[in-house]
Amino acid sequence: MRRLYPPVTGTAAERELTDREWALDELADAYAYPTVPAGDGYLRANMVSSLDGAAHHGGRSQPLSSPADMRIFGVLRALADVIVVGAQTVRQEGYRPARAREAFADRRAALGQPPAPAIAVVSASLDLDFSRPLFTEPLVPTLVLTGAAAIAEHRERAERARAAGAELLIAGEGRGVEPVEAVRALAARGLTRQLTEGGPRLLGQFAAASTLDELCYSVAPMLTVGDAPRITDGPKVVEPERFAPVSVLEESGFLFTRYRRIRQSPEFAVPVSPQQAD
Ligand SMILES: NC(=O)c1ccc[n+]([C@@H]2O[C@H](COP(=O)([O-])OP(=O)(O)OC[C@H]3O[C@@H](n4cnc5c(N)ncnc54)[C@H](OP(=O)(O)O)[C@@H]3O)[C@@H](O)[C@H]2O)c1
Repeated sequence: MRRLYPPVTGTAAERELTDREWALDELADAYAYPTVPAGDGYLRANMVSSLDGAAHHGGRSQPLSSPADMRIFGVLRALADVIVVGAQTVRQEGYRPARAREAFADRRAALGQPPAPAIAVVSASLDLDFSRPLFTEPLVPTLVLTGAAAIAEHRERAERARAAGAELLIAGEGRGVEPVEAVRALAARGLTRQLTEGGPRLLGQFAAASTLDELCYSVAPMLTVGDAPRITDGPKVVEPERFAPVSVLEESGFLFTRYRRIRQSPEFAVPVSPQQAD
């Protein structure tokens, strides 16, 4: 893994220092969440796509991934309070509870985080298999983010969710979740370090509502052709929103980019990497 951006300066020997396997701790420092004002959430997304923009291949993102991508995926999870994910991704990718990882135990404890992040499934239909370990065996209860009208409409499913141990969190008056409400409702519970893993339809709504603070975007050196969606799917926004690059890492031809929305005040300043003191 090496850092392409910001460019590494210094002697050749110093430059080579970033071209090696990074320890998990170094990656965790590089991707640390910024401190946000009390009560605010910071929403980061982590997505991968092919060179030609496909967000999945054959309905799964795994064919577009790599060992380094999975390593960063795991680090981003380990830094988060909550992982927000669309119901279709849960159904299609067979989501399981997030696990506690020894490598991050001290870091999480120091921040007052439980051993693993909670998973928050976004759904209006509540058509989820509540007998699965995601709902019955998590270290931290799984949340179901939904609209008030959806619970009224699907009472039996809502009951099954509760009976399985899941907690229903309302973020909108209608059937659907309002992206701004979702970020707010999670932050109000102390879940301020938010990570969304998509899928494209959910991410499209977060982006269109200007709720996405940061995008960690992996570019896989592959062409897939086909008709898979981009990493965001949905109606176009009126004004494209600008993001600024924070860092670009590379391993085995995969690029691991990180962009931050241009809007934020200085208190959102994001650290980049421990090797960046050059
Ligand atoms: N490339 C990547 O990094 C990446 C990441 C994640 C997923 N994926 C791929 O993306 C595909 C799935 O993505 P997708 O875009 O089809 O689906 P998705 O965004 O994962 O989920 C869509 C579902 O989420 C729920 N939902 C979305 N917005 C909602 C809202 N505002 N309020 C309430 N519920 C809402 C609805 O669930 P209900 O139907 O239950 O109401 C909707 O059907 C899979 O093939 C997966 O492999 C790729």
